[in-house]
Amino acid sequence: PEPLDLVVIPGDGIGPELVDSALRVLGRVAAVDGFEYRVTTVEAGAGAYRSTGRALPENALDRLRAADGVLKGPVGLPGVRHPDGTEAGLLGGLLRIGLDTFANVRPMRLLPGVPGGTRHEAGEIDYVVVRENTEGLYLSRGAGAATPHAACDQLMVTRAGTERVVRYAFELARARSGAPADGTRRVTCVDKSNVLRSYALFRRVFDEVAEEYPDVATEHLYADAAAHDLVARPQCFDVMVMENFLGDVLSDLGAATVGGLGMCGSLNVGADAAYAEPVHGSAPDIAGQGLANPLSQILSLALLLDHAELPASGDRVRRAVESALLLGAVELGERGRPSGGTQSVTAAVCENLRP
Ligand code: NAD
Ligand code: IPM
Ligand code: MN
Repeated sequence: PEPLDLVVIPGDGIGPELVDSALRVLGRVAAVDGFEYRVTTVEAGAGAYRSTGRALPENALDRLRAADGVLKGPVGLPGVRHPDGTEAGLLGGLLRIGLDTFANVRPMRLLPGVPGGTRHEAGEIDYVVVRENTEGLYLSRGAGAATPHAACDQLMVTRAGTERVVRYAFELARARSGAPADGTRRVTCVDKSNVLRSYALFRRVFDEVAEEYPDVATEHLYADAAAHDLVARPQCFDVMVMENFLGDVLSDLGAATVGGLGMCGSLNVGADAAYAEPVHGSAPDIAGQGLANPLSQILSLALLLDHAELPASGDRVRRAVESALLLGAVELGERGRPSGGTQSVTAAVCENLRP
């Protein structure tokens, strides 16, 4: 078969360190599973914007679409802003809208040996946040209106945009392994339909799509209650689907219950492109120091392998991560940082990646 064609975006801050780790794991899993791959590097993000005036090189979107998958490090640097004062368009929007990756899939699992932020034990927390990725409040990115005295943004929810992401969530609930405590496949719709019309449409469309999936249970939660329940009863969740901004905030909250942002990878997926990246940002406070937890990037790689129709390799990477944690070869210390540093985590995963 043709070698797997991957594009890599190292990104900013801790991005290059993390991507380097993930590429070492990729080399190892490819050797074990016997597949060929080639990697093209695209420099993009805040550093690229600062040095070239473009966050993403010209024609890069076509290249990314043509690839079997894209592995991206986090982007963003303090002080690198658009003239409007935001980071609008610094890649988040460019890629998600540009590639129309409408679902941002963020699995939350508490793995063995990881200090979670709640009283739960490894294996109990195992759900997926499906974040709508192309509209909602973020459609206002780079738009909105501002004077020195007032500023406003718009939250837009469309029927078509909601239908496709909700359908994705139901399909995922059918397909995924791992079940909530009560063994019931379930999709939870999170919104604020009690307050905003946009969210009321989101819920209405959710209910309509749900009728096509009578084998999957449903649940509705307002976002504030969901924030509470993500801490109080995370073992009850299976798949959750929500608007863009809610998904942004609630997934970082979920991360705190599974060992921190360094434990959370994600896949941005659309009809003709996919890219994997950590849930977190470029962590400028620890960049270049070898302190970051690379498991977020390594678990993102696993999601990309699943997507590239190499799910056995994705599973092998996840198993290697779990073995390394279980054996105590990876220890998460203060603020979710690995006590032995980035390199030691990478080495431990590679050592535990076996045929
Ligand atoms: P952040 O996620 O970069 O960092 C928040 C905190 O978590 C920091 O204390 C950081 O040190 C810690 N942290 C993050 N990842 C870690 C890891 N792997 N191991 C250990 N600790 C880790 O969020 P921020 O500081 O609010 O944002 C920094 C920049 O990243 C901003 O420019 C922001 O816009 C950008 N950002 C980009 C993405 C992305 O590329 N997808 C996502 C989120 C934020
Ligand atoms: C994320 C990030 C981005 C977002 C930022 C960097 C634009 O926080 O991927 O979660 O808010 O979507
Ligand atoms: Mn975020």
